[in-house]
Amino acid sequence: MTAAAHVADVDVLIVGAGLSGIGAACHLQRELPATSYLILEARAAMGGTWDLFRYPGVRSDSDMYTLGYAFRPWRGDHALADGDDIRGYIEDTAREYAVERHIRYRHKVIRAEWSSPDARWTVTAQRTAADGSTSEVTVTARFLYACSGYYDYDNPHEADIPGLADFGGQVVHPQSWPADLDYTGKRVVVIGSGATAITLVPAMARGGAEHVTMLQRSPTYVLNMPSHDPVAALAERALPARAAYGVIRWSHILQSWGLYRLSRRRPGLVRRFLRSDAAKLLPADYPLDVHFNPRYDPWDQRLCAVPGADLFRAIASGRASVVTDHVERFLPRGIRLRYGAQACQQGRALPANRATKGMPGRRHAAAMRQRSWEDPGGPSMRRVTT
Ligand SMILES: Cc1cc2nc3c(=O)[nH]c(=O)nc-3n(C[C@H](O)[C@H](O)[C@H](O)COP(=O)(O)OP(=O)(O)OC[C@H]3O[C@@H](n4cnc5c(N)ncnc54)[C@H](O)[C@@H]3O)c2cc1C
Ligand SMILES: NC(=O)c1ccc[n+]([C@@H]2O[C@H](COP(=O)([O-])OP(=O)(O)OC[C@H]3O[C@@H](n4cnc5c(N)ncnc54)[C@H](OP(=O)(O)O)[C@@H]3O)[C@@H](O)[C@H]2O)c1
Repeated sequence: MTAAAHVADVDVLIVGAGLSGIGAACHLQRELPATSYLILEARAAMGGTWDLFRYPGVRSDSDMYTLGYAFRPWRGDHALADGDDIRGYIEDTAREYAVERHIRYRHKVIRAEWSSPDARWTVTAQRTAADGSTSEVTVTARFLYACSGYYDYDNPHEADIPGLADFGGQVVHPQSWPADLDYTGKRVVVIGSGATAITLVPAMARGGAEHVTMLQRSPTYVLNMPSHDPVAALAERALPARAAYGVIRWSHILQSWGLYRLSRRRPGLVRRFLRSDAAKLLPADYPLDVHFNPRYDPWDQRLCAVPGADLFRAIASGRASVVTDHVERFLPRGIRLRYGAQACQQGRALPANRATKGMPGRRHAAAMRQRSWEDPGGPSMRRVTT
């Protein structure tokens, strides 16, 4: 086996050119300009999460005034921003601080060893050349900064859903969304109600799907947020740019902290607030307690934010709906649920985790409503959530 070529010795080695890695490099340039550094990035582009995920509607659910860099104001139109805008913000920041010349793309770090006598890390990376051939290289560094994110880029998390392989429709994972996927006029089921699902459902409903069903085994708290921040608009009008950004950033930090503290101290109050806010946006007879009333307290799990009530609007318009039940198993032309009816004919599924296109037929959706969430005494979906 050929020995790995030693390609550089630097003060700081950063792994990953996502939001964190680019931010770390900018901090070095700003505060320690004499420090030498390199960024090793496994992929061929910077941006990390915001380059990898391309599903419809992909966006942040933290406001960008706090998720963005303190040293470079977020100037986008929306506090909860689209993936494209966040990728652009990372790229612009890297350009402004001349970070890109320090990045070595297609270098996947596979090993890091510390030597006390040398006071150095030796980091081994697998380099992939343009023709696809691979070789190993090493970099030595005094300080190793891991900015590599928290999930597996190559192997997306697969939910264990029985019978998925038997399903006749198309199954798509949001982490590897096909760029040419045409879901116009299709009936789609999104499995799960985490942040991915809650983003995907209104975006696909808007994007031309015939109907989108969010199939969740347990409900999630959903917080409606204004699409445009009134504090930001006021501060930007009244204050110089730098002071305005400080006010906006701190107002968001305090709002998030305040909501979190209130949720811990007065969970019942926050639960009632979230419920009454959702009730205003959904039809009067909507079974809120089945679909939007989690069994845990607010912020026991991550609370999902929706800008401009987009999820609730999609449901109110009839283009999207929620089913609360467990998947018993996938069938060639549908999904059998544990407590309700069989959910679909000929479809595609997207657990969010994944999405499934082509579900459920109107007749079947209506049947499910009758047999489950309109019949609390029957084979109740509520039991799923207790
Ligand atoms: C769709 C989506 C939306 C999200 N929204 C929010 C949000 O609103 N708020 C929030 O706080 N968080 C959110 N997150 C979590 C999000 O991943 C982080 O907030 C943020 O983008 C993390 O940035 P990062 O640079 O730390 O990691 P990543 O964005 O994951 O970037 C890591 C980089 O490291 C590279 N890398 C990994 N391993 C190696 C290796 N061995 N060698 C070389 N390079 C490597 C990757 O290729 C990648 O470029 C979201 C996640 C997803 C998937
Ligand atoms: N900013 C954003 O809008 C955004 C978008 C995407 C992701 N993210 C971040 O990325 C992380 C992951 O988010 P995510 O939405 O992909 O995952 P998640 O929050 O873990 O939610 C996964 C969903 O899938 C359901 N699920 C899991 N296994 C299942 C199974 N076997 N059968 C049926 N349902 C199943 C879960 O149900 P239960 O709740 O019942 O377990 C849950 O509703 C989070 O940190 C999130 O904040 C953010």
